[in-house]
Amino acid sequence: MKHVLVIESSISGKNGQSTQLIEAFTKNLPAEISIDRIDLQQQPLPHLDMPEIAAWMTPADERTAEQQALASQSDQLIERVKQADAIVLGVPMYNFGVPSQLKALFDRIARAGLTFKYTENGPVGLLDNKPVFIFATRGGIYQGTGADNQTPYLEQFFQFIGLKEQYFIYAEGLNMGEESATKAFDAAKKRIEELTHKLAA
Ligand SMILES: Cc1cc2nc3c(=O)[nH]c(=O)nc-3n(C[C@H](O)[C@H](O)[C@H](O)COP(=O)(O)O)c2cc1C
Repeated sequence: MKHVLVIESSISGKNGQSTQLIEAFTKNLPAEISIDRIDLQQQPLPHLDMPEIAAWMTPADERTAEQQALASQSDQLIERVKQADAIVLGVPMYNFGVPSQLKALFDRIARAGLTFKYTENGPVGLLDNKPVFIFATRGGIYQGTGADNQTPYLEQFFQFIGLKEQYFIYAEGLNMGEESATKAFDAAKKRIEELTHKLAA
């Protein structure tokens, strides 16, 4: 394991609870592991729109300067995902879903012909499998219930592009009093200890 892509999506930036769990996970990694970091609070992506999709659909050598700039956002993100041996993702729950900043990134990573394709047997992910560590922080408690819309969405999204090895680390009940939050962080940190060896190997 050499290279890890960290994606932070909390609107609280470095103070985000998901960002702090990422920090707890990455700080103990062996020094030889390099980290590439996307901080979506510092560098938010705009909503995906048709001019950007049209730029993707235009052959690279026929793109205008504006289309080149538009297409390069997605091209560069996909390249960073491809270069990584593992992905570490912070995902707070905002209004029952993922942060819109993260959705804007997903919208640029799912690209027909580059990260997935449709066949007569259905969709096929085109990325090489690699572990994805998902740090899911929530004010309430949803894990394992029908109200957890995030987990199946994230599972499906990463499977769709070929990333089947997924590890979820939950910290839930963070807005349900101090005792609940402490218990959730302790449980998350225990799970982090269990999982760190997967990156250190
Ligand atoms: C705009 C907003 C919406 C939220 N929506 C939910 C929600 O639907 N369910 C929930 O359990 N917590 C919700 N929360 C609480 C966050 O999930 C919780 O505080 C989480 O730990 C935030 O992670 P972060 O600090 O990394 O951003 C919301 C928080 C904010 C700021």
